[in-house]
Amino acid sequence: MSTSKLIDGKAAAARVLQQVKQDVLDLKAEGIQPALAVILVGEDPASQVYVRNKILRAEECGIRSIEYRLGADCPQARLLELIAELNDDASVNGILLQLPLPRHIEETRALQAIAPGKDVDGFHSENVGGLSQGREVLTPCTPTGCIYLLEQTLGDLSGKHAVVVGRSNIVGKPMAALLLKAHCSVTVVHSRSRDAQALCRLADIVVAAVGRPRMIDASWLKPGAVVIDVGINRIQDGERSRLVGDVDFDSALPQVSAITPVPGGVGPMTIAFLMKNTLIAAQQQALANRQPKEAVCL
Ligand code: GUN
Repeated sequence: MSTSKLIDGKAAAARVLQQVKQDVLDLKAEGIQPALAVILVGEDPASQVYVRNKILRAEECGIRSIEYRLGADCPQARLLELIAELNDDASVNGILLQLPLPRHIEETRALQAIAPGKDVDGFHSENVGGLSQGREVLTPCTPTGCIYLLEQTLGDLSGKHAVVVGRSNIVGKPMAALLLKAHCSVTVVHSRSRDAQALCRLADIVVAAVGRPRMIDASWLKPGAVVIDVGINRIQDGERSRLVGDVDFDSALPQVSAITPVPGGVGPMTIAFLMKNTLIAAQQQALANRQPKEAVCL
């Protein structure tokens, strides 16, 4: 098997994190300590692992992390109160509310409560709208990481035909908006699409984000396509369980010019861009704090 077709997300994430670490040092030299607040409501085991990894990575980058663990029965009002306190706390630059939330909490209401400038997930409607208008805003971490991998692989994405499989708010929709911002022609296919496979076969770039193990095989792909597999699905393989993507990797590999493996492809990029978004939030807040003083000097 040729390994040259593999897009190495682990190495790419390490490069992004190295740059973040350096930029954090520069901010610290100006007396600014970037900080990320991470809120976990309930005891979802997967969320606990994600949150632990986010906190560890923040520490490695020199970003202070503050963890808030609220019980599964925490009233919505208490969560909104905490978010309001963190919005008002100038020492906190980014706020991450880990999803999913317990059912009694309205997800949209909670996400909308986060100040857009501290919304390091890019889920607030102000940031979603800004992205769709092509403004420079905080953008969702996973799709931003996918764009980074695509640009590393292909260079300029301008004029490419990209097909996004899946239309979730976290990945599919922002992915489509970011590809459009990068001047691609974008098609989004989903469960109601009439011939998703035929549409996908037209693509120079395929981003798979459906959450269905190995759904996309070689018959979905144009020869030479670049494939980004966002899926992380746990399947039972005999006695053992293992992780597979939304793409049937073994079938796709001979057909593609490049592909992300699972694990080790898109996965590490999500946390890397969470750190990058926290850094950007800290830099922008520092700039905003400096501006009024400079204006007074003039
Ligand atoms: N749960 C699964 N993915 C994500 C993510 O990107 N951000 C947050 N906040 N929660 C998630």
